[in-house]
Amino acid sequence: MKHHCLILVAITISATLGAPRKGRIYGGDAAAPGQFPSIVSINDPVQFCDGSIVSKNWVVTAAHCVDVVTSTTTIIAGTNLANSGGTTHKVAKWINHEDYDPTALINDIGLIQIEDEFEFDDVTQPTEFVDPAVNATCSVAGWGETDTVEFPEELQFVEQTVFSFETCKSFVGGELAEGQTCAFSGEGKGLCIGDSGGPLVCEGKLAGIASFIIEGCGKDNPDFYTKTAPYVDWINKNIQAK
Ligand SMILES: *[C@@H]1O[C@H](CO)[C@@H](O)[C@H](O)[C@H]1NC(C)=O
Repeated sequence: MKHHCLILVAITISATLGAPRKGRIYGGDAAAPGQFPSIVSINDPVQFCDGSIVSKNWVVTAAHCVDVVTSTTTIIAGTNLANSGGTTHKVAKWINHEDYDPTALINDIGLIQIEDEFEFDDVTQPTEFVDPAVNATCSVAGWGETDTVEFPEELQFVEQTVFSFETCKSFVGGELAEGQTCAFSGEGKGLCIGDSGGPLVCEGKLAGIASFIIEGCGKDNPDFYTKTAPYVDWINKNIQAK
């Protein structure tokens, strides 16, 4: 089964393969200020992934995003706009899950530490975690490609329904680990390139981290996530260890 990471570097790959580059958080709407107070964009020099604030100085994202972080990567928090407002933070340290499998995208989770600290306010908040309930309506947000622009200025979001593990598994030929889940918005909607690492939010808490799509953006199949609930101990251990 071919997994398509939603990282910006994947654009080069899909372009090489001649795959269409249309997409968006397909069929989404612009988010309201503070609707996703934990989301951050990850830039080097342009936005290439998203993440979520977990503490004063740590962000959680996908491991395949952390893979391309360098000392020049910056984190922008506290704004829905890609190129204005908010606060910009230099990165200090980045860690991937020890058992990250870049082929099957299992344990696709990593952490980035910033040099300074986030200042929490109405539009900048650390997230809590929740296990996504089957059939729950959740939202996914990101600055990934839309069907009209490669780099939307405004943060986009779309609602998704969480599928059962067995249903998710059936879309990837049975290759799915316990830490993975999927959710679906309907054809023409969902994750696209640049949405990697972004949040699947259920009940106002982080339930999933955008990991991969199958076939392409806006296809008639679900989007795949790393669940956060199984990794809460791993996150806490690593952000406390410094
Ligand atoms: C989820 O929804 C489907 C379709 O409506 C239903 O068959 C299934 O029982 C539901 N599962 C749960 C756990 O609510």
